[in-house]
Amino acid sequence: MPRKHAEYRYIMPGLVLAACVAFAGFALAQSAEPVSPKLTPKLQDLLRKEMLSVNEASQEILAAMVTGDDERVATLAQQIHDSFILRQSMTPEDKADLMAAVPEDFVRMDRNFHEISAALAEAANAKNRPPQRERFGQMIDACVACHSKYASDRFPAFSE
Ligand code: HEC
Repeated sequence: MPRKHAEYRYIMPGLVLAACVAFAGFALAQSAEPVSPKLTPKLQDLLRKEMLSVNEASQEILAAMVTGDDERVATLAQQIHDSFILRQSMTPEDKADLMAAVPEDFVRMDRNFHEISAALAEAANAKNRPPQRERFGQMIDACVACHSKYASDRFPAFSE
């Protein structure tokens, strides 16, 4: 019996340490370097404008979904997919600057986000409502995933 207690004394701190290491690894994986400070001033400006448009469109999509306006959902989701500003205002040089500044994983997250928008537009065009809500949920998850990892300077609450 006393021997068993002695073992616990070692196991518990070991478990706590393991949990801390695991948590630190998770926290690091969650918030990488913010991307905005690495961008050229023009790209910073374009990204911010793009985000404001995406923000507005996503709120309007919610309003359209809860009123059954499939057509409006499709139009807005397609606009998000096509990138309001960013892609359309970038010169080939801006594109090269962007690719040089951001990690591959940021590009992957952005691509995933745009694919979800296309899938949402598709569900709305087909007037399939439950899949619209599922895609919209995935879209919000994609906003949060990217912000918590790459915009911790702009949204410090994610790193608390
Ligand atoms: C692939 C990454 C990524 C995705 C996906 C993303 N964002 Fe962002 N967003 C950013 C980054 C990076 C910033 C910080 C820009 C800065 O600090 O200049 C930002 C900033 C913003 C801002 C603040 C703009 C300002 O005034 O400075 C808003 C609002 C925003 N995002 C909304 C959204 C919404 C809503 C979604 C999803 C529907 C979304 N974002 C998806 C990367 C992303």
